[in-house]
Amino acid sequence: MKHSSQRQPPSTSGDSVPAAARTVFGATLPLAERYRDWLATAGVERGLVGPRETDRLWERHLLNSAVLEPWLPAQGTVLDLGSGAGLPGIVLALLRPDLNVILLEPMLRRVTFLDEVVADLGLPRTTVVRARAEDLAGQRPRSADVVVARAVAPLARLIGWAAPLIAPGGFLLALKGETVTQELTEAHAARCAAGMAPADVHPVTVGGTVTHVVQLTGDRTNVTNTDKSNKSMHSAGHRHHSPPHEGGTGGR
Ligand SMILES: C[S@@+](CC[C@H](N)C(=O)[O-])C[C@H]1O[C@@H](n2cnc3c(N)ncnc32)[C@H](O)[C@@H]1O
Repeated sequence: MKHSSQRQPPSTSGDSVPAAARTVFGATLPLAERYRDWLATAGVERGLVGPRETDRLWERHLLNSAVLEPWLPAQGTVLDLGSGAGLPGIVLALLRPDLNVILLEPMLRRVTFLDEVVADLGLPRTTVVRARAEDLAGQRPRSADVVVARAVAPLARLIGWAAPLIAPGGFLLALKGETVTQELTEAHAARCAAGMAPADVHPVTVGGTVTHVVQLTGDRTNVTNTDKSNKSMHSAGHRHHSPPHEGGTGGR
């Protein structure tokens, strides 16, 4: 369903396009701007985005989601568990239109928004699925090469939801803030129960804020160094778009 420009008024906020967005999105920047405008208008009107977020959508939401891009596989299916207003899934679909992207979201209001945005942006390989992760596992077991998640649940619960959806050799990428160490500790039992190797944790700085890309693989044989978590946590490589670790469980 296409929407007229009247439906999407130009943003009047001070959230101008940062230089990093031009670098990250490149030729797809116009679509990223359009998505940002969806968030700032319909997203706020429908209660999917807080009104105070409109001035910081680029750095806190679009660029924060984009940090996952270097970990994405060469091909296959990425499932955004708990996509909400499309984060990080729509951003990843814009950056990698060659991948199949599933936006998994149980709430009708959010699913309607996602359907409209996906149609408006013209993302033919992106599908919106209305379901809870635990219900989808029975319908589409192990169907995702990568499950991504941002701000959905603590790792202990997220692992239980994601693991049955991950194809053999695939992995979970979770974006986490400063609670990452505590969440990893609390997720130990869930991780072991899911047969996942210890996490690789990659700190990345976006707009002066450190976020953590937590990578958990369900296939122990893929992991060549299972004791890298702490090293990664304290490595000096704090920059935007730090690449996956060599020899680790990086994107395929
Ligand atoms: C705080 S929002 C975050 C949305 C988005 N990922 C973001 O970063 O803005 C959490 C989302 O997870 C969804 N969610 C909660 N439980 C879920 C479940 N069991 N399976 C799939 N999605 C779920 C909620 O409906 C909500 O849209």
